[in-house]
Amino acid sequence: MLLITLSKRSAVEPFHAMDILAEANRLRQAGRPVISMAVGQPSHSAPKAALDAADEALKHGRVGYTDALGLRDLREAIATNYRFRHGAIIDPARIAVTTGSSAGFNLAFLSLFDPGDAVAIARPGYPAYRNILKALGLHVVEVPVTAETGYTLTPASLERAETKAGRKLKGVLLASPANPTGTVTGREALRRLVNYCDSRNIAFISDEIYHGLTFVGEETSAAEISQNVVVINSFSKYYCMTGWRIGWMVLPEMLIRPVECLAQSLYISAPELSQLAAKAAFSAENELDVYKESYRTNRDFLMSRLPELGLPLASPMDGAFYAYVDTSRYSNDSMDFAKRMLAEIDVAATPGLDFDPVEGHRALRFSYAGSVSDIAEAVGRLGGWLK
Ligand SMILES: Cc1ncc(COP(=O)(O)O)c(C=O)c1O
Repeated sequence: MLLITLSKRSAVEPFHAMDILAEANRLRQAGRPVISMAVGQPSHSAPKAALDAADEALKHGRVGYTDALGLRDLREAIATNYRFRHGAIIDPARIAVTTGSSAGFNLAFLSLFDPGDAVAIARPGYPAYRNILKALGLHVVEVPVTAETGYTLTPASLERAETKAGRKLKGVLLASPANPTGTVTGREALRRLVNYCDSRNIAFISDEIYHGLTFVGEETSAAEISQNVVVINSFSKYYCMTGWRIGWMVLPEMLIRPVECLAQSLYISAPELSQLAAKAAFSAENELDVYKESYRTNRDFLMSRLPELGLPLASPMDGAFYAYVDTSRYSNDSMDFAKRMLAEIDVAATPGLDFDPVEGHRALRFSYAGSVSDIAEAVGRLGGWLK
């Protein structure tokens, strides 16, 4: 008889979006004209400079391990980018190159927290935060973000959550721009949060993966405000390099060595080919800003059309590339709504339950990172369907 059992920590929620995605892929293979607005992935390929750098590296053949913290040249280029974009002087020694921001979360959580520690995240928010924290045995404190809190975390909402949870927070994780709300947390609001956390010895982790994709408001890096925060970023979104699995962290001095040791054992290093391509991507901002303008066109279109179709916006859409809408006029079961929408008009979107286990049953997220013509076609179909 088999005596092995599953760990309790492995019982993480599935990504409901993946069920929709699997069905979308199945329908597409069967020849249906599926338009996917379900996944947060640019339809453009990596910028030409990045592809050329990878081509060049392949000509020389060998792709190997690098230092666990990444190639020195790339770490310097990342530091230079902070000077250029934020006027912040960051020592390249504080930069760790990672296999996407996803690895950055693991490294941050493992180096900062012990099992049972309480960490606050926004609800709605990116589901992997909750899943990774749970898998590591941490206590997840979900803090509702609403119109009243400006769709972001605030010192007052953290205090309320701490009281309700009956435990002291050890960490706070915030994304700006955020997924799925699109909230951009402005400089002063971010400063208040960072200072609040600093004054209470709470570790502040700033997910800045959607930097470069801010349409309204100021794009502030927490690295400008304090040297004690952990910043996590990635080449996946603005730089259109999802599949290259490459990102970075900016670390407080005391975390450099622990993160290096963890990375050595968990991943050895980020792929060298991706690191070389990523460095070249910094020279491609003109090309990338053209893509950003196409997202802006999609955003403006969705901001006016979705509410007209009876799907009011549930959050600001100031950054990232998502429209998070309220489906309650049509359905309080957004999973079923998403499945029917896919089956009947071949348009895929993500049910809100992925982002918000409490209220997400009446929300849906549309990604507008696709082409302008696809988004227009999808909304045309939606209009006919909802009539
Ligand atoms: C808010 C947020 N953070 C992190 C990630 C993970 O990105 P990656 O691991 O590709 O860098 C995503 C992906 O959609 C995201 O939306």
